[in-house]
Amino acid sequence: MAQDKREKPIGIFDSGIGGLTVAQAIVQALPQERLVYFGDTAHLPYGDKSTAAIQAYAVKICDLLLRQQCKVILIACNSASAAAYELVKEYVGSKARVLNVIDPVVKHIGETYPNRTIGLIGTKQTVNSNVYRKKVDELDLGITLKSHATPLLAAMIEEGFFNDTISESVIHAYLSDPGLVGIEALILGCTHYPLIKKQIENYYQGQVDVLDASQIVARHVQSFLEANSLASDKLVGDHSFYVSDFTQSFEESTRIFFQREVHLEHYPLWE
Ligand code: DGL
Repeated sequence: MAQDKREKPIGIFDSGIGGLTVAQAIVQALPQERLVYFGDTAHLPYGDKSTAAIQAYAVKICDLLLRQQCKVILIACNSASAAAYELVKEYVGSKARVLNVIDPVVKHIGETYPNRTIGLIGTKQTVNSNVYRKKVDELDLGITLKSHATPLLAAMIEEGFFNDTISESVIHAYLSDPGLVGIEALILGCTHYPLIKKQIENYYQGQVDVLDASQIVARHVQSFLEANSLASDKLVGDHSFYVSDFTQSFEESTRIFFQREVHLEHYPLWE
């Protein structure tokens, strides 16, 4: 008997294990959904890569996720959402639905902050692509977006520097940039930043709303599945976690991003 489409997994991919913050938010919101997670650790970080390189990786990853029968492919990486969403959507066609982590945040901004000034921090790829700015401008709601690339933050968090004085100084240096003056809310436009949300909130002392994209995306995935009759009503099977390059330290770091250690399977992309 053919498998019920609703029981098929949600494919999630990221440049590495940072996207597990998004996967974790989805597991919390949708415990009955099975996940197939792919972290492209062989090509990490995406934030400094060219658009063409990220697009090539994304297509290869989608081949794997389609072989795993994913009903939805969520690009859980801001840099890849900025560089490859349109291409991936075209490539995947009708085989699966494709979601990214930028559109839900832009929708939330439109609903909550018309005529206000909003900040964005993320990798160089995300900020320099101007994708957030274009999408916010398309809303035509009088929203001003001020953005600042913060490339040290992801590496800093991966090395375990958060909730300490080193991260405090780096966060302070970035957020005091004149380019972010006058914002009323700040989009955390990178998979890693939920881990420093508290520190960023402390920096602003309640004057700025700090928006955790992983929570917004999880709520969006939930309503998308419901609206498209794709929501599973029971968890069938186990989640799977793949990486394109395996080291023990990646597996150990899953605890930071997923709140528990998970077993990573090595799946080289080019073999
Ligand atoms: N996952 C990336 C993002 O959300 C951050 C890490 C990287 O540069 O690959 O932009």
